[in-house]
Amino acid sequence: MEKRTVLHMFDPMPHVSPFDINMAVDSGFESIFTYNNVALEQVNGLVQDAIFSRGPAGVKRTGLFIGGRDLGLALNMLDIAKNAMVPPFEVSVLADPSGACTTAAALVACVEKQLRIKHGVGLEGLCGVVYGGTGPVGIATAVIASLAGVDVKIVDPFNINTALEKADEYNARCGAKLKGTYASSDADKARLIAHADIVFCTAKAGVQVLNADILGDAKQLKVAGDINAVPPLGIEGVKRMHNGEPLVHAVNSPGAVGIGSLAVGDVKYKLQHALLAYLLTAAKPVFLDFREAFERARELV
Ligand SMILES: NC(=O)c1ccc[n+]([C@@H]2O[C@H](COP(=O)([O-])OP(=O)(O)OC[C@H]3O[C@@H](n4cnc5c(N)ncnc54)[C@H](OP(=O)(O)O)[C@@H]3O)[C@@H](O)[C@H]2O)c1
Repeated sequence: MEKRTVLHMFDPMPHVSPFDINMAVDSGFESIFTYNNVALEQVNGLVQDAIFSRGPAGVKRTGLFIGGRDLGLALNMLDIAKNAMVPPFEVSVLADPSGACTTAAALVACVEKQLRIKHGVGLEGLCGVVYGGTGPVGIATAVIASLAGVDVKIVDPFNINTALEKADEYNARCGAKLKGTYASSDADKARLIAHADIVFCTAKAGVQVLNADILGDAKQLKVAGDINAVPPLGIEGVKRMHNGEPLVHAVNSPGAVGIGSLAVGDVKYKLQHALLAYLLTAAKPVFLDFREAFERARELV
């Protein structure tokens, strides 16, 4: 009899995300086990406990998921999990803390598609600003865009040191070329948007970051994507279902278009589903983060 499929979900936070548990069920895992408050130093032991009990056929029916709210910590856990494998006792692992890898990958892929369709250009060489760029989704968005050739600034709403530290951390870790800045006033936000080709709005839910006046200062904006689905939305005039509709308030950026949270969410949902399913179907064990997520998102959009 074929063994049941099992997903072990490791999380450094007090609770594993119900969103991710639902996704795991809908992706076909029959048994799901959640581990809360997992410390980095516990990952090696937990992984080795999971790989030896089911035999070579069983490891093919077993996956690991790493959650939490901190992308750097999740990437460290992924590295430790990978190094804990003892071939042929190896299982596939997906790191997607706070949905950061899949949401960011979906957002950048949606933006790239609109750049191509509406402006005939790719990501490379453009200037991008990530408002809310120091959160988990923002930093993943910034790294993906930077590795694709965008000159990216991450924006913290209050503190330049937070932005500079995050930029340094992810440049060293991922080979990105992020710059850090802050924008605590509308004037700061307008100064940043003036020379942006792309805006990624990945700020906290329920916060309008860019109003019509600020958008009026954009001089060369091509595509703006917002992932906040909770009113007020992040960019005035960009509705949740927008996917390439004109950015009406960007009056000085002819042809600028917007992408809303549910358009991104639709891709993110399909992407996370596909990556979870891939944990069981990959020919060899795979260790998935934002890099593979972006490759797959580009195929999906
Ligand atoms: N559409 C989708 O499929 C999807 C999927 C997942 C998540 N989301 C959404 O993605 C967004 C980002 O998620 P997250 O977990 O990364 O969020 P988060 O950690 O709550 O916040 C992200 C960023 O927003 C900043 N921020 C806080 N208050 C702000 C303000 N008043 N103005 C501008 N920025 C502000 C935070 O800065 P500080 O750290 O300094 O406070 C942080 O840099 C949320 O809106 C979430 O709901 C959407």
